Amino acid sequence: MTTKNQEHFYFAKHDTVALANKYGTPLYVLSEDILRQNIRVLQEAFRDVHFPIKISYASKAFTCLAMCKIIDDEGLFLDTVSSGEFYTALVAGIKGEKITYHGSNKSIEELTYALSNCVGCVVIDSEQEIPTLQQIAASLHITQPVMIRINPGIMANTHERILTGKADSKFGIPFAEACGAAQKIVAEAPNLRLIGLHCHIGSQIHDHEAYVAAASNLIALYKDISARLPVCLQEINLGGGFNIDYLEQETLFDIKGYAKALNQLFLKHFSDGNIAMPTVGIEPGRYIVGPAGITLYRVGVIKNLSGLRKYVNVDGGLYENPRPAMYNAEYRLLVANKYNQPKDDLVTVSGRCCESDTLFENVMLQQSEPGDILAVLHTGAYQQSMASNYNRLPRPAVVLLKGSESEIIIRREEKEDMISKDSVPSWLHAETKGEKDV
Ligand SMILES: Cc1ncc(COP(=O)(O)O)c(C=O)c1O
Repeated sequence: MTTKNQEHFYFAKHDTVALANKYGTPLYVLSEDILRQNIRVLQEAFRDVHFPIKISYASKAFTCLAMCKIIDDEGLFLDTVSSGEFYTALVAGIKGEKITYHGSNKSIEELTYALSNCVGCVVIDSEQEIPTLQQIAASLHITQPVMIRINPGIMANTHERILTGKADSKFGIPFAEACGAAQKIVAEAPNLRLIGLHCHIGSQIHDHEAYVAAASNLIALYKDISARLPVCLQEINLGGGFNIDYLEQETLFDIKGYAKALNQLFLKHFSDGNIAMPTVGIEPGRYIVGPAGITLYRVGVIKNLSGLRKYVNVDGGLYENPRPAMYNAEYRLLVANKYNQPKDDLVTVSGRCCESDTLFENVMLQQSEPGDILAVLHTGAYQQSMASNYNRLPRPAVVLLKGSESEIIIRREEKEDMISKDSVPSWLHAETKGEKDV
């Protein structure tokens, strides 16, 4: 039996320094126990509501075969936005019927692939998509359930670049044009069956007011369309976007409060019995997987620029976490092998890419030295899934923790992976060395 090292930071009962030494750095670490716990919190929050609840996991936050298996095992539905996400889900054993397909510019090939594999629902994002989808469904001799993504014109309280439900947005059909789109489906698309309305107003949203405003708009539209058109709507999907507490002073989205507010709203609008209570859909990604992940780095070069700043360089960077560069995302971090020491050093943590590559600017950290392990918290969402090979840097591994076990679920890329999709045109062959020669 191992004794707990008091100096080390433990995550989900695992010594993070030992994990870094065993699997190497940079390393994404994901806790299955925390993941499942987060799902339970969502399920519990909606347990007593008066509408049927449909919880989907937004796989763009993080996906791989193991993740899909956990989601399926917990009974959730899945939201996908590309053939890659859809294929991953199918290979993991998720049935097409449990998957929703999104996207603001879906290709004919990916729609054909999704429909051929019995996708549960396609969320139509533009009027242009209607004839395309109709043609594909007709050629496959199927009737495809669809929803319309509405742009409800709502400003939510979050970063500009992850705000998707405001009037000026590439996503969805503007509220004022939604009834026309529904009419078009009914009149011109006999192989499409309109089953509901969808919206997603943004990500990392801190309170539920904007959701309730969007839901009110969608309810009015739902009733209007149901009254005017020969359709049988069943679902209002309000998307994901619940914030997590990246920083200590932030509070986690009040999911119970949200469930309660929606319950009141839907009871008010649907208890007269004129129209049946719809299913309410939610599609969180970050809320489920964000707090279940951490990232481990090894400290390398430290540069103290007198009177300016102290740079602590780590072996990751914007190639494996583009969020700080994209929208100034901030995180909590600590030196994992000096967990109990005071955070009394003001530093800027830099990555190894060829821009300034500031990962964490002006943060208080324990006194660090080369070889230390840095742990960054709440990195489970939109980090690995957004990683690239910029500078031909191989992407880190993902290790999954369950109880006292740990196992790799996405292997670390090697330098050989960096050329695995390259090819050399015939006129350059003579000058190319074989892989074995280098
Ligand atoms: C349509 C849709 N649903 C759900 C989500 C998940 O958002 P979050 O991870 O913030 O919950 C997104 C994120 O962009 C989205 O575009």
